[in-house]
Amino acid sequence: MGGSWSVAALFWLAVTASSMTAYAAGSPPEPIAELAPFVVTDGIIAEPLQGRIGDAVRGRAIVANRQLGLCLLCHSAPIPEERFQGNLSGNLAGIGSRASAGQLRMRLVDARQLNPSTIMPSYYRVNKLTRVTPAQQGRTIFSAQQIEDVVAYLLTLRDDRGALASDAIRRIRSPATENK
Ligand code: HEC
Repeated sequence: MGGSWSVAALFWLAVTASSMTAYAAGSPPEPIAELAPFVVTDGIIAEPLQGRIGDAVRGRAIVANRQLGLCLLCHSAPIPEERFQGNLSGNLAGIGSRASAGQLRMRLVDARQLNPSTIMPSYYRVNKLTRVTPAQQGRTIFSAQQIEDVVAYLLTLRDDRGALASDAIRRIRSPATENK
């Protein structure tokens, strides 16, 4: 059972990773006209998008949602009711102790600005891709409000061992230690 799920998940990933911007699910993303301007300074977006106030409870629901953001396809998070969480990247537990709101907002808005080759989708970016379906054309995956909700939720994931976990993740990811 576990094995067949993994195959399904991998297939799902292959499909979604190549067409992440092409699906629209959950609440409708906003059209380009509403794309809030934001300022990136030193790799962070300090100001909330459109000055919106995030709601951590809604943010948790977004992270747990299997259609909307697919966070749990790649990440694990302290959301015990969701089984089969991802291990393609770090566990989000304790992230609120390791990252600031501005860093988290940047990561969600456009992770590619932090790592051009990341597989993590840019959730608040209008992709100039030809593969995007007409319905998704000019649309972001998340709305500004959804970005702020997820940021608010991630900030609640505080963990005293956060620094330790972050070190461990960095060690795992660091190319320099790949052959270790
Ligand atoms: C397709 C896989 C994928 C999906 C989906 C995904 N991520 Fe990521 N995420 C990654 C990877 C891989 C990294 C590691 C950093 C990099 O690639 O640049 C990462 C990094 C992060 C980080 C930084 C972690 C740290 O320890 O510094 C956060 C926070 C994060 N993701 C949150 C999210 C949230 C919230 C969602 C859903 C809205 C999400 N991710 C969806 C793959 C994904």
